[in-house]
Amino acid sequence: MILPEIERLIRCGREKQPADIADLTKLLAGDTASDNALFHAADHLRQQTMGDEVYLRGIIEFSNYCRRHCDYCGIRAGIPGASRYRMQPDEIVACAVRVWEQGCTTVVLQSGEDPWYNIERMETIVRGIKQHTPAAVTLSIGERSADDYRRLREAGADRYLLRFETSDRNLFSRLHPDSDYDRRLECLASIRAAGFQVGTGFMIGLPFSDTEMLARDILFTTALQPDMIGAGPFIAHPDTPLAGHTLWSDPDIYLRVPALLRLLNPWAHIPATTAYDAIRADGRDRVLQCGANVFMPNMTPGAYRRQYQLYPGKPCVDEPDTKCAVCVRGRLARLGRTIGRDAGHSRVAARVGCRVSRVGGSV
Ligand code: 5AD
Ligand code: FES
Repeated sequence: MILPEIERLIRCGREKQPADIADLTKLLAGDTASDNALFHAADHLRQQTMGDEVYLRGIIEFSNYCRRHCDYCGIRAGIPGASRYRMQPDEIVACAVRVWEQGCTTVVLQSGEDPWYNIERMETIVRGIKQHTPAAVTLSIGERSADDYRRLREAGADRYLLRFETSDRNLFSRLHPDSDYDRRLECLASIRAAGFQVGTGFMIGLPFSDTEMLARDILFTTALQPDMIGAGPFIAHPDTPLAGHTLWSDPDIYLRVPALLRLLNPWAHIPATTAYDAIRADGRDRVLQCGANVFMPNMTPGAYRRQYQLYPGKPCVDEPDTKCAVCVRGRLARLGRTIGRDAGHSRVAARVGCRVSRVGGSV
C-alpha cells in the first residue's frame, strides 16, 4: 500500500520541493497501517539511492570537558562530582589508526566544547590521522570561529557535524543558556563555506516540544540540504536540569522521524544514532530498516567510555575497545546488509561548493 501523503513526500524529496507540513504531521501521528507503509517506503528508497551498504564511522569521544551548559547534556559544565578526561593528541591519532584497522573507513572525533584543543592542537591531530591512515575524518567539536573551520578543513578534515538541536528559536534559547540560535546557524554556514561535507540534525522528543515542532524540524533539516543527518531520541540525564522528563509515550514516533527524513532527503547519509540503543536493545537495527545507512561503532578507549554519558543507558560503555566494531558485523549480517568499503563521502548532488561528485546510480 502506498499512501498519497507518502507519494507526495517522495516526489518533494526527488524534486527538491518544500513538503506540506500537513503530510508530515499526519504521518508523524501514525497508526499501524500508515507506519508499515512509511517504514517500507523509507527502506525501499534507501535501498534505491544508497544501496545495501552500511558505512561504519568509528567514533572517538576524546574529551568530556565542556564549557557550555546545554540543559539536556550529561557532560555539561558544572556537574558536581563529574570526572573529566582528555586524550592526548598522540593517543587520539593512535586510536584513529585502530579505528581504521578495525574496518571503519571514517574516523569521527567528538568532544565537549573544550578550549584546551586549540586550533593548533586540532590541526596536529587531524594531520596526524591523515598521515597515518587513509580514513575520512569527521569532526564534531561544536561551535568554532569561521577561521578555525577553514583551517581544520585545510588540515584535511573532510566532514563536520553540528546539530541545530531544535529549529524552534524559543525552545533553543530555553535549552541553551549560553548559546545563540543565529550563531549556531552562522556556524553551519561557515562550516559549509569552509568546504566540509555538512551533517546536522536535532533531538526527538525534547521537553516542551510536540509533533508539529518535529515536523518543522524535519522541514528545516531538509531545507539545509545536509550531506548527513543525525537525529535521535532525547533521553533525560539525572544530573541535568531536564532530569525526570520521560520518553514520549508512543515509541514509534522515534522511528517515523528517520523514515520521513529519508523520504525528503533521498541522497543524504543518515546514521542509526547511538541513542536509539538506549531506548531498545535493537534500536539501531530498527532505524537501519527505516531509512538509515550509517552506523557509528564506539571506538573510545574503554577506560573513558563510562565518563562520556551524554544521556543515561548509553550502550556499549562497558565494552572493550574494539568490541563494537566486531559486534556491528553480526548485527548487519542479520539484517542482510553489507559494509561499505569506500569512505562513504557525500552523495548529495549539485551543491554549491561541493567538491565530491555523486556516486552510484540514480532513481
Ligand atoms: N539525549 C539524547 N541526545 C543527547 N545529546 C546530548 N544530550 C543528549 C540527551 N540527553 C545529543 C545532542 C548533541 C549530540 C552529540 O548528542 O543532539 O548534538
Ligand atoms: Fe557496541 Fe554491539 S555495537 S557492543
